[in-house]
Amino acid sequence: MARRALITGITGQDGSYLAEHLLNEGYEVWGLARGQANPRVSRMRKLLADVRIARGDLLDQGSLISAVEKVQPDEVYNLGAISFVPMSWEQAELTAEVTGMGVLRMLEAIRVCSGISRGSATSAQIRFYQASSSEMFGQVSETPQTERTSFHPRSPYGVAKAYGHFLTQNYRESYGMYAVSGILFNHESPRRGAEFVTRKVSLGVARIKLGMATELRLGNLEARRDWGFAGDYVRAMHLMLQAATPEDYVIGTGRMKSVRELVEAAFSAAGLDWEQYVVCDSALHRPAEVDLLCADPKKARVQLGWEPTVSFDELVAMMVESDLRLLSEGGDPDQDSSWP
Ligand code: NAP
Ligand code: GDD
Repeated sequence: MARRALITGITGQDGSYLAEHLLNEGYEVWGLARGQANPRVSRMRKLLADVRIARGDLLDQGSLISAVEKVQPDEVYNLGAISFVPMSWEQAELTAEVTGMGVLRMLEAIRVCSGISRGSATSAQIRFYQASSSEMFGQVSETPQTERTSFHPRSPYGVAKAYGHFLTQNYRESYGMYAVSGILFNHESPRRGAEFVTRKVSLGVARIKLGMATELRLGNLEARRDWGFAGDYVRAMHLMLQAATPEDYVIGTGRMKSVRELVEAAFSAAGLDWEQYVVCDSALHRPAEVDLLCADPKKARVQLGWEPTVSFDELVAMMVESDLRLLSEGGDPDQDSSWP
């Protein structure tokens, strides 16, 4: 019988790539979808017709228990979150509820449905993946960052992710659950939300190239990130749940680039000079910035055999090309057409 996976955050960037990967691996894939008429669900269905939908919300404990009871998953991937860092200052409580407490609710749903209580001999058969983030390192204490680097989150989002991370570890230690966190560094793709800097830049370049805009306003150009391709990172999520023992892993490329370098690469991929178009806007700076993030993915390479396959330049070119195609065909990046 096919193994069954339940993915929260199915309508997001990673949910789509992970669902594709698991379908290719022969899984029966279920996605948790919220809302009574969520337009992103129909967009996802167009791309991934074979994904089944369970209704539920990370804010609603009962709905998560019902979803686990209905799906009877072998693996649960908790990707659902408020994931845009600036939004976490504007809606800090909601971020804590979805991105932080949502992890508790999902773990509780698995615990309850598996009949595990304190001191019980049963351990859950369901394997749990938590989408932890390099934002937990925040103001970094060392570079590159490993599984042992201390946390100093710099946003309500980073704090909520740190809660989910420690809770996942705690359920593993308290209840013997197979529960792991992937500490993933920034990963991008043509399916990335338009609010994140890589996609904002690739769309901006495409609009300028096609004569639809004359400038691109950005915030801090000096921030540095370790950017990889989302399609590579979802393979790591799956590999983590196949390991003999439940452990946490850092996933990244080990290479860092600045936003300025991102901008240079993206404009040059379209044959443009970025300095003629980019406007620095201090209103786009964050209350507390994460200056640099750079992964040491050695543990994942050695223990999981995981390697990224797409370079920074290839990623940027892929996103610019995709947005040029999308906009020249009259697509709307806020709707569904950026998805193949
Ligand atoms: P994304 O595109 O922003 O997707 C977020 C998903 O969360 C959406 O499917 C959204 O569904 C869902 N969601 C929001 N509120 C929810 C709620 N109350 N209940 C259930 N689902 C809810 O994020 P992503 O880039 O795919 O990232 C996936 C996960 O990895 C997130 O947890 C993110 O924080 C984490 N992460 C991402 C990166 C990265 O670079 N991409 C790096 C490290 C960690 P709706 O359509 O219903 O809004
Ligand atoms: N979004 C955005 N928009 N970022 C900008 C801009 C702009 O106009 N100008 C400069 N930046 C800088 C930000 O200040 C930040 O330092 C960097 O670009 C990256 O910003 P985002 O793309 O918004 O991503 P993030 O690093 O804050 O968070 C992403 O990666 C995390 C993993 O490290 C998200 O995907 C998080 O969910 C994820 O956990």
